[in-house]
Amino acid sequence: MAVNRIELLKAEKDGLDVLADIQRYAALAANGVDPQIPADDFERFKWYGLFHRKPTPGHYMLRMRIPAGVLTSEQAAAVGEIANAVGRGAADITTRMNIQLRWLTIADAPWALQRLAAAGLNSQQSGMDNVRNIVSCPLSGLSADELIDTRRIAARMQQAIVGSKRFSNLPRKFNLSVSGCRDDCGHAQTHDLSFVPAERDGVIGFNVMVGGALGGMSPEYARPLDAFVTEVDAVDLATAVLDVYRDHGLREKRKESRLKWLLRAWGMERFRETVADYFGSGLSRAGRSLGTSVAGDHIGVTAQRDPELRTVGCLVPVGRSSGDDLIEFGRLAREYGSAELRLTVQQNVLIPNVPADRVEALLGEPLLERYSPTPSAFLRGMVTCTGSDYCAFALIDTKGEALKLAAALDERYTLTSDAQPLRFQISGCPHACGAHRAGEIGLLGGRKRVDGEIIDVATVFSGGRLGADAALGEPSARDVPLQALPEQIATQIRAVRGDVLRAP
Ligand code: HEM
Ligand code: SF4
Repeated sequence: MAVNRIELLKAEKDGLDVLADIQRYAALAANGVDPQIPADDFERFKWYGLFHRKPTPGHYMLRMRIPAGVLTSEQAAAVGEIANAVGRGAADITTRMNIQLRWLTIADAPWALQRLAAAGLNSQQSGMDNVRNIVSCPLSGLSADELIDTRRIAARMQQAIVGSKRFSNLPRKFNLSVSGCRDDCGHAQTHDLSFVPAERDGVIGFNVMVGGALGGMSPEYARPLDAFVTEVDAVDLATAVLDVYRDHGLREKRKESRLKWLLRAWGMERFRETVADYFGSGLSRAGRSLGTSVAGDHIGVTAQRDPELRTVGCLVPVGRSSGDDLIEFGRLAREYGSAELRLTVQQNVLIPNVPADRVEALLGEPLLERYSPTPSAFLRGMVTCTGSDYCAFALIDTKGEALKLAAALDERYTLTSDAQPLRFQISGCPHACGAHRAGEIGLLGGRKRVDGEIIDVATVFSGGRLGADAALGEPSARDVPLQALPEQIATQIRAVRGDVLRAP
């Protein structure tokens, strides 16, 4: 079988075996010797969360794992400390409830990995052909509407999957989510494998969805596997699906290796039968779905199951934070809450378990002036991929442009209905890391020659929906010059929601 370069380098040496090399290169670099890192090891470093970034030569992004987005104050302080000590203070919150640091050198890596481990975190297998950070409900264990507390399940899945060679050589990346509430705040449909709440024979458990993948020319949402598992069996089903994907997934072409391609090749029933064989103990058909179509962001003050407690959701504009601010978030969580934070797929930070009579004081904290629980309507919905600051594929500066766009829209327009916050999802190139087809309004950056000059443009998508009646957004205006976006988007929103007013 013809194989590609990545398959060859994985076969030659497993990514998990690169740790000793990282230590060796780091020691050389620390002594002023160029470690002469071979190109294949740059790829393998991603098994430890280290991504060499072409736009910042000699420097690495560090992507960690934060299952279900649950971060203790102590962990936030550790991540902030690493960002400040070796990462020029930069810290981005990502759409997988995760954090990415910047500017590390190879010499910094051993200390940074150790510091993460000391705080009970790790960065293992957070890139390349591995299961990425496991996404869940941002309010798991706290929400009044919850059916299943998914924190332990997400943590058990991570334990079963990460750190062993059983799953360190998948055909391609693999996104996994588990949601335990009726709403779709973890964007289940965008994942290769997702568990969504369901009921069968009076038992609450999960229906299983497979094959979501939004990148490239043929994005798809996950589809039902027609299977139901209990809370107890969810981890075994996840590992059975991964076993099948590892053993039978297509490996020839990188662009056709995600799980959805195996499903296309086999059809759902053959895939289901094979998963059932690996799973072993009889796979039930799907139960009655308990999901709705709400994909909330939990910004603002939210009630919890415990009537005395609130969650305060803070808007981190386009996910861009800093070491100092993470440390301060950790301090606020300790002082007002339960020393715990939650990260969301909208790249925001929640402070849960705040006694109702302490909310007012928390809202008065200076940090919440910059990370507001009451942000303007358009800034609130902006979610973007990394963009040109650090990504070599980027055709536009997604984060900078999203901030400008939000400011222009907020200045000129008012949303009259705020029943559901507007969701913008923005990608800087067709790889679609900003999941633009899932946004109510999606933007895909591009470039176009106009009067002999190359200008930055974006294609506008609209109509993306998540949850029970999920739909991918469709292009509604192509190659719009960025300065013309506010007007164009206002037209879209009027068409979709009928509720944008021009400010007087
Ligand atoms: C061939 C396809 C893809 C390539 C080559 C690719 C590459 C990249 C690169 C270079 C980055 C920037 C890393 C940085 O921040 O320094 C990135 C970020 C990211 N990618 Fe992809 N990607 C691909 C597809 C996808 C898809 C389909 C998704 C899921 C929808 C995705 C999810 C992410 C996420 C969550 C981030 C972090 C950005 C954030 O949320 O701030 N990627 N990817
Ligand atoms: S969508 Fe493109 S520009 Fe954005 S992070 Fe992914 S690869 Fe980079």
